[in-house]
Amino acid sequence: MTLVGLRGSFEAALKCDLWRVREQNKLCDAIEYALLTGGKRFRPLIVMSVAQALGNCDVKPAALAVEYFHTASLIADDLPCMDNDAMRRGEKSLHCAFDETTALLSSYALICAAFEKVHANAKLCGADKGMIALEQAARAAGLKGATGGQFLDLFPPNYDADTLLDVLNRKTVTLFETAFVFGWVFGGGDLGQLDSVRKTALHFGMAFQIGDDLCDFEQDLGRITSNYAVALGRECATKAFYEHVVALDLLLKELHLEGSGLKELKELLMHHLAPASSA
Ligand code: IPE
Ligand code: IPE
Ligand code: MG
Ligand code: MG
Repeated sequence: MTLVGLRGSFEAALKCDLWRVREQNKLCDAIEYALLTGGKRFRPLIVMSVAQALGNCDVKPAALAVEYFHTASLIADDLPCMDNDAMRRGEKSLHCAFDETTALLSSYALICAAFEKVHANAKLCGADKGMIALEQAARAAGLKGATGGQFLDLFPPNYDADTLLDVLNRKTVTLFETAFVFGWVFGGGDLGQLDSVRKTALHFGMAFQIGDDLCDFEQDLGRITSNYAVALGRECATKAFYEHVVALDLLLKELHLEGSGLKELKELLMHHLAPASSA
């Protein structure tokens, strides 16, 4: 299936899941708004592309899980006590479209729904695979992952390069790692190659966040921020972006993933975030 086909199948699964749990109240309206307002769906498409390359098992629940974790992190990230952003994807951020209480509870509900989906995929593909996925998801969401990364981002002990990489790794790479690991494990990949799968995710995630920081360069300039391009300079960030893309290419080949939707996803990454104008 092409990436467009995978995306269509993901959107259908998402709508179906939303209808399954739907109640007529503001909380469900808010969750629906957060999930259906313009996400690029990189992470679920990674899950589905990796599994497709391996040729096994339905991974739609795992794809939903990563999008739920991601959406929960964005809702929290925009709150007044975090980045205080009124806009997300060109629309009102969730706490502005609804209210802070509903936004916070939407984020909690989505994290729980994500774990429920990991369980659902374990039922489809096997409890042993489910255990690996559960450990991965819990670690990526916790202190060593998105939560710890968000804290470090907001309260950095310093702005040196190591701290910066630690922030990027925890707040962004860990969720890409979850996406690659879910696709690989539930898709029936060789567990002995999980280290290479994690390295692939590291390069994808780093390129993604550095590219995003390059896009935000003007907006973040002069602000105290963990923006990689602002902290280390545009040139250095551009070099790092392309180094990660080259390393990503090699690993996709090594894992025989370059023929699946991942090649298109890498092209999408380049299309959205490649710092061509500043290269
Ligand atoms: C935004 O991620 C947050 C970062 C880690 C830079 P995306 O750019 O994937 O967000 P959406 O879901 O497509 O809006
Ligand atoms: C937010 O990171 C995404 C998370 C990983 C929580 P940023 O604050 O850097 O991203 P944007 O610019 O708000 O999307
Ligand atoms: Mg932030
Ligand atoms: Mg933010």
